[in-house]
Amino acid sequence: MSANKASLQTTVSDAVELDVARIRQDFPILQQELNGHRLAYLDSAASAQRPAAVIDAISQYYEHDHANVHRGVHTLSHRATDAYEGAREKVREFINAESIREIVFTRGTTEAINLVANALGEQLQAGDEVILTQLEHHSNIVPWQMLAERRGIELKVIPINSAGELVLDGLDDLFSDRTRLLTVSHVSNALGTINPVGELVAAARKRGVLTLLDGAQAIPHTAIDVRQLDCDFYAFSGHKMCGPTGIGVLYAREAVLAELPPWQGGGDMILTVSFSGTTYNELPYRFEAGTPNIAGAVGLGAAVDYLSAIGMARIAAHEHQLLEYATDRITGISGLQLVGTATHKTSVLSFNVDDIHPHDLGTILDHQGVAIRTGHHCAMPVMEHFGIAGTARASLALYNDRDDIDQLIDAIHRAVEMFR
Ligand code: ALA
Repeated sequence: MSANKASLQTTVSDAVELDVARIRQDFPILQQELNGHRLAYLDSAASAQRPAAVIDAISQYYEHDHANVHRGVHTLSHRATDAYEGAREKVREFINAESIREIVFTRGTTEAINLVANALGEQLQAGDEVILTQLEHHSNIVPWQMLAERRGIELKVIPINSAGELVLDGLDDLFSDRTRLLTVSHVSNALGTINPVGELVAAARKRGVLTLLDGAQAIPHTAIDVRQLDCDFYAFSGHKMCGPTGIGVLYAREAVLAELPPWQGGGDMILTVSFSGTTYNELPYRFEAGTPNIAGAVGLGAAVDYLSAIGMARIAAHEHQLLEYATDRITGISGLQLVGTATHKTSVLSFNVDDIHPHDLGTILDHQGVAIRTGHHCAMPVMEHFGIAGTARASLALYNDRDDIDQLIDAIHRAVEMFR
C-alpha cells in the first residue's frame, strides 16, 4: 500500500462513535461529484463501495504475488496459496466458524445457495419438504423451485404481515416428518426486516431439520457468529461487505458438509482421477472445483480486516442511529408510504411516493446526485404481498451520514414538486 493511501485508512478502535467523515475518506469513489452534486450513495444493499485498502490489496496481489494456487512448487504459487488460504482464515475468524474446513469460497450468496440446493438436493427424495419464506430474495427461492421440478420436493412458505415481518403462528404446522431444510434470509434485502433466526433455527433443530441462513444483507451490518446462530449453512457475498464482486462464502457445519456429495467437478476438488474411479479432495476443497477467484478472496480478506478494525458493533450502532434519523425524516414527507415497518429493521428504507413510478423517482434523484435502487429488488413475492410493482429503496452502509439522508429528503421533495 502506498504511504498516502495507508494514511487514509481509518483507525477508530479507540473512538466510541464512528468518525464517518474520516471513514468516507477511505472510499475513493465517494470523493466524486455526480451530475454536478455531492454523491449520496444509498444503494449499498445492491452493492457496497470499497475502501482503498481493498483496492490496494487486490492490485498488490496482482503486482507481486499472483500465480495459481495449490498446484505449483514455485515461490509465486506458494505466495498466492498463502494469500488465498490466509483470506479463508480471516473469514473463519470473522464469523467465528470452528474450522477453515467449513469455509467454502463461492462466487457469492447465489452460488452458495445453489451449492446447497444441488449437493443436498442429491440426497432428497420426492415428497421431502423445504420451508422458506415470502420474504426471500429470488436467489433463495428459484434454486429450490428448480430442485422441486427436478426431484419432486415440496416447498412450504412462511407468510409475512403488513409490516413485512414473518408470521410464525403457523410454523409448527409447516413442519412435518418430511421436512429436510428450513432456509431463510437473516435480513430482508427489500425491506430491511431482521428475521428471528434464533427462534427459527431452534425450531428446526428441535426437529432434526437442517438450516440455511442467507446472510447477504446481514453480514455488512452486524457481527455474525455462526456458532451462536447454530445454523448449518450461512451464505454471504463479498461485494455487500466492501469486498470485491464475484467472491462469496458458504459456511457449512463440518459434520453436515462432510456428508454432502460434490456438486461441480474439475481440478482441485479431486485427489486422484482415473477411468476406474475418482477420489475427492478433503474439505473445503471438494467444493471448490477449478481455479478459484484468488484475487477476490484476497480482496475479501482485506475487507474483513477493514471492517474488523472499525468494529461491527460500532458499525451496527451507527447504522441504527442513521436509520432512525432517516425514518423520522422520510415519514414526514406527505404522500410517502414506507413499505416495510418491522420492529426489528436494519439499513433499508423502501418506499413509494404518491403515484410516482419508482423508476421515475430514481432517475430524478440520480440527477441530484442521490443513488438509490428502484424496482422489485429481486423479491417479487414481497411486492406481490403488498400489491405493488416495486419500490424506491435507499440503503445504508457504514460510510453514510446525515448529509446523505438530508440530500435524499431534499431530492424527494423536488421530485414531488416536479410531479405536482
Ligand atoms: N440483492 C441485491 C439487492 O437487493 C442485488 O439489490
